[in-house]
Amino acid sequence: MSRQDREKWNRRYAARGDRMGEEPRTWLERNRDLLPTKGRALDLAAGEGQNAVFLAGLGLDVSAVDISSVGLAKARERAQAGGVALHTLESDLERDPAFIAPESYDLILCFRYLQRDLAPGIEAGLRPGGLAVLELPTRKTLERRDKPAASFLVEAGELANWFVSLRTLRFEEEWENDVNLSRIVAQK
Ligand SMILES: C[S@@+](CC[C@H](N)C(=O)[O-])C[C@H]1O[C@@H](n2cnc3c(N)ncnc32)[C@H](O)[C@@H]1O
Repeated sequence: MSRQDREKWNRRYAARGDRMGEEPRTWLERNRDLLPTKGRALDLAAGEGQNAVFLAGLGLDVSAVDISSVGLAKARERAQAGGVALHTLESDLERDPAFIAPESYDLILCFRYLQRDLAPGIEAGLRPGGLAVLELPTRKTLERRDKPAASFLVEAGELANWFVSLRTLRFEEEWENDVNLSRIVAQK
């Protein structure tokens, strides 16, 4: 499955200019007041790096992980154009969900990539006080669209229960461009 995913995403990223747009996701921008401006950040399934580069611009030391070499090459170009440093790591998260080093990050992002078994690693990977910021489409999305497939969608309310040891600072579920999004900011 992962090899097919890699090829699929490489094709998608190669076919378009900026598939996901230039700006960071709105959930990240809306929580700007909570984000650290120093320390280490990890962006899981970072794609073309809009969120990662935004964080690097805030002053964070950011690592962007994705299965797509094409997406990560675009992320590096974006970082260079923005005059910020960015570490990129091509990795299949499905093969190694526990790769996140414990107590290493002040911020961990996971936007629009569903892999439930990453949750314990995200919790463990945060330093005390660190934040997990996630945004995942829910099954309600299928009320307005045919895609993505249900296997890429969380149940309504599910994300609020992912992190047993973190304190939820913000949680919401709302529509954006006909995608129903579950969003959380949780703190260790
Ligand atoms: C919908 S995009 C989201 C990208 C970015 N987080 C954003 O919000 O714009 C999903 C991303 O997951 C990545 N991906 C898919 N399967 C993966 C895997 N097994 N390991 C790591 N990344 C994966 C894809 O390459 C793609 O960049």
